Amino acid sequence: MILVTGGAGFIGANFVLDWLAGNDEPILNLDLLTYAGNLETLASLSGDPRHVFVQGDICDRALVDRLLATHRPRAIVHFAAESHVDRSIHGPGDFVRTNVEGTFTLLEAARAYRAGLDAAGQDAFRFLHISTDEVYGSLGAGDPAFAETKTYEPNSPYSASKAASDHLVRAWHHTYGLPVLTTNCSNNYGPRQFPEKLIPLMIVNALADKPLPVYGDGLNVRDWLYVSDHCAAIREVLARGTPGETYNVGGWNEKANIDIVHTVCALLDELRPSAPGSHARLIRYVADRPGHDRRYAIDARKIERELGWRPAETFESGIRKTVQWYLDNSQWVADVQSGAYREWVAANYAARGQGT
Ligand code: NAD
Ligand code: DAU
Repeated sequence: MILVTGGAGFIGANFVLDWLAGNDEPILNLDLLTYAGNLETLASLSGDPRHVFVQGDICDRALVDRLLATHRPRAIVHFAAESHVDRSIHGPGDFVRTNVEGTFTLLEAARAYRAGLDAAGQDAFRFLHISTDEVYGSLGAGDPAFAETKTYEPNSPYSASKAASDHLVRAWHHTYGLPVLTTNCSNNYGPRQFPEKLIPLMIVNALADKPLPVYGDGLNVRDWLYVSDHCAAIREVLARGTPGETYNVGGWNEKANIDIVHTVCALLDELRPSAPGSHARLIRYVADRPGHDRRYAIDARKIERELGWRPAETFESGIRKTVQWYLDNSQWVADVQSGAYREWVAANYAARGQGT
C-alpha cells in the first residue's frame, strides 16, 4: 500500500485513478476535503477495496501516526497543499499551515514510522514530495530554463510556502537519513482541474458566456504539462528515483497566457459551433496579479536522461482532450460551480463507512 495525501485534488485524484488503472497496489488517500478536494472526481472508485479514503488533516500528527501504524504503507506520495497563487495573495495563513506545518508533520510522522520498520522496510521506504517550478522564481525572456541546480527565489506566498516545504524535505534527508524524493513540476492542465486555474476557468466561463479575464498584458509565460504525464513522471520517480535527489518535470511547452486563451477559444469554436459568435469575443484584459512572475520554463533533461521519462501528450493533443472532457462532463462542472460537490462525500462515502 502507498499513502497519498491530497488525493481528492486535481493532480492527486488523477494520480489515484491512473495508479489503480494500471496496478492493484492499494492506496490510502488522506485528504481534508477543502474547497479544492472533490470526491465526486473519484466516484468510479466508490466501493473499490483498493482505495481507502480518510477525510483528515495532514497537520494532525495523531491521525497520521495512527494511519501509518494501521495501514503500514511502503511510501508516502505527498500532494496535499494549498495550491492557488491568487488565494495565497489574499490569505497566506492557510498556505503556511498546510504547506509548511503539514509537510513538517508528515516528515516527523514518517521518520518515526520508518524507525520502527525492519532493515529491508527502512531501505524500501520512500517519501515523495510533490512540488512546483515556482520555487525557482521568475525568468527573463532570454534566461535558461530552470535546472535542478537553480537557486530558490520564490516570489508569492504560495511559492514561498512550497519552497519552505522543499527545504524541510531536503533537511530530513540530510539530517535524519529519510529516503526522500522531490519533484518540481510546471503548470499542469487536464481533466478534473478546479475552475480557478487559468485553463479550466477559461473553459467554464466561455461555456457560460462569461468574460475571460486575462491578467496584465497576457504575455506571462508558463510551461504546460498534461496531468497524466506528470502522474507518469511521479510513478517513475517513486519506482527508480535516487533518494535525496530532486527531479524537474516539464513539458517543453512554453506558452504566453493570451495564446493559451485563444487556443481554448478556437477549440470551443470548433467543438461547440452553436455558440453565439466566436468565444474570443469574451476576452477581457484585467488588472495584473501582484508580484506576477513573468516566465517559468523547465529543463527536464535530468528525469529524461536518468529515468527515461518523456511526456506522451503534445500541447495540441492534451488541450483538445481537456476541452472535450469539460464539454463531456457538464454535471461535474455544474456540481463544482453550485457547491453540490461538497455534499457528495456525505451521500456517497461517509455513509459507506469508508475511512480509518
Ligand atoms: P489542488 O488544490 O487541486 O488539491 C489539493 C488537495 O489537497 C485538495 O484535495 C485538498 O482538499 C487537499 N488538502 C489541502 N489542505 C489539506 C490538509 N491540510 N490536509 C489534507 N489535505 C489537504 O492541488 P493540485 O493542483 O492538485 O496540486 C497538488 C500538488 O501538486 C500541490 O502540492 C501543488 O503544490 C503541486 N503542484 C501543482 C501544480 C499545478 O499546476 N496544479 C504544478 C506543480 C506542482
Ligand atoms: O507552475 C506551477 C504552478 O502552476 C503550480 O505550482 C500552482 O499550484 C498552479 O496553480 C499554477 O500556478 P499559476 O499561478 O501559474 O497558475 P494559474 O492557473 O493561476 O495562472 C496561470 C497564468 O495565467 C498566470 O500567469 C496567471 C494567469 N491568469 C490566471 C487566472 C486564474 C490569468 O491571466 N487570468 C486568470 O483568471
